[in-house]
Amino acid sequence: MIAASAGSVNEYWYFVDSFRGRGHPRHECGARSTLSGMMPRQFLTVCAALLTLILAGSALAQASKRHEQAVQQKPFGTHDGRPITLYTLTNANGVEVDAMNYGGIIASIRVPDRKGQFADIVLGHESLEGYVPNPPYLGAIVGRYANRIANGTFTLDGKTYTLPKNDGPNTLHGGVDKTFNKVVWDGEPLKGKPGVTFTYLSKDGDDGWPGNLKVRVTYTLTNDNELVIDYEATTDKATPINLSQHSYFNLAGEGTGDILNHELTLNADRFTPVDKNLIPTGELRSVKGTPLDFTSSTRVGERIDSGYDQIVLGHGYDHNWVINRKGDGLMLAARMYEPTSGRVLEVSTTQPGVQFYTGNFLDGRVTGKKGHVYKRRYGFCLETQHFPDSPNHPDFPSSILKPGETFRQKTVFKFSTK
Ligand code: GLA
Repeated sequence: MIAASAGSVNEYWYFVDSFRGRGHPRHECGARSTLSGMMPRQFLTVCAALLTLILAGSALAQASKRHEQAVQQKPFGTHDGRPITLYTLTNANGVEVDAMNYGGIIASIRVPDRKGQFADIVLGHESLEGYVPNPPYLGAIVGRYANRIANGTFTLDGKTYTLPKNDGPNTLHGGVDKTFNKVVWDGEPLKGKPGVTFTYLSKDGDDGWPGNLKVRVTYTLTNDNELVIDYEATTDKATPINLSQHSYFNLAGEGTGDILNHELTLNADRFTPVDKNLIPTGELRSVKGTPLDFTSSTRVGERIDSGYDQIVLGHGYDHNWVINRKGDGLMLAARMYEPTSGRVLEVSTTQPGVQFYTGNFLDGRVTGKKGHVYKRRYGFCLETQHFPDSPNHPDFPSSILKPGETFRQKTVFKFSTK
């Protein structure tokens, strides 16, 4: 579309000549004869309009080509007889995110290091089979309630609900059967930008949860190298809800080793200490003087094996930090830096908490991409969330969604280098 038609080239030269004060087209052609009666000023206006149209047309054609490439879809097997699609989102910088409608799983994130070398920085598998089952919840959307519910029970509006237990005495990440990490969602690519929306109806009574809950999760990749995650949900009965993204990152590249040399800053002065079952005690404790103080950038491995009771109980870091916030908008929650590659991940969120989990339960039993064995602490998660077990802690920010309300949360993973 760079080359314009002969007529328009001619008009261009007429425009140039007019501008130079000659007032005649460079070549004779039909365009001239129809326009020859016009005053130079009118003619200039027509030419300028034509040029604008040509340029706009060309820009539109290029943009639509880019948008066609912005989301690519490829079949990724079937589950429960339903097709699974892998959506690849690509931005103008060549950053790519692969996500699928099984579990809303993010399978890959390919970003450059400080020298421009791309690497996949999330743990995962090359085929769908690897994700079924997926005990560590690699890359998945977790819900209906991310993290733990003590003793698999809570009371709401005078009624006690019982959930399946899958973590000692607790319910972890929603339960057992129809948890959001292992159901088939409907996928719909966004029009005109690299993004995909996954929707799912969690039925009243599924895994013991109340209400038909319609959930919508959208991943959008921006040209600022941000992966934006928008969560939305509505219900027809009051229900607890807590949605999070369970990607395991290794900013040096997945499978390259442990994440202990990464350097972390958390925008959090307090955390929620846990008991021996990793259930919050209800206290909001200051991080000051503890190994959970990441208010200034600190190497993850520096205190991860300290004798501090919370570290011992968590087998490392597996805690919810209370994000310092002003208002309820997007706040920076975390910044992680990996010194060899220079990659930086910043996490911002509208949620009140973030679970920093250092992959303490990865034990080499999962073999992922390229035959990489995922050993202890080979990845970290920054799971933005409501506080664990909130339905049993009336003092924590409420996680109850009522009919007529819309649950909306946003988390942004921003990738850069330094
Ligand atoms: C969360 C929990 C961890 C662990 C992982 C999944 O991060 O807090 O304790 O259960 O999920 O393995």
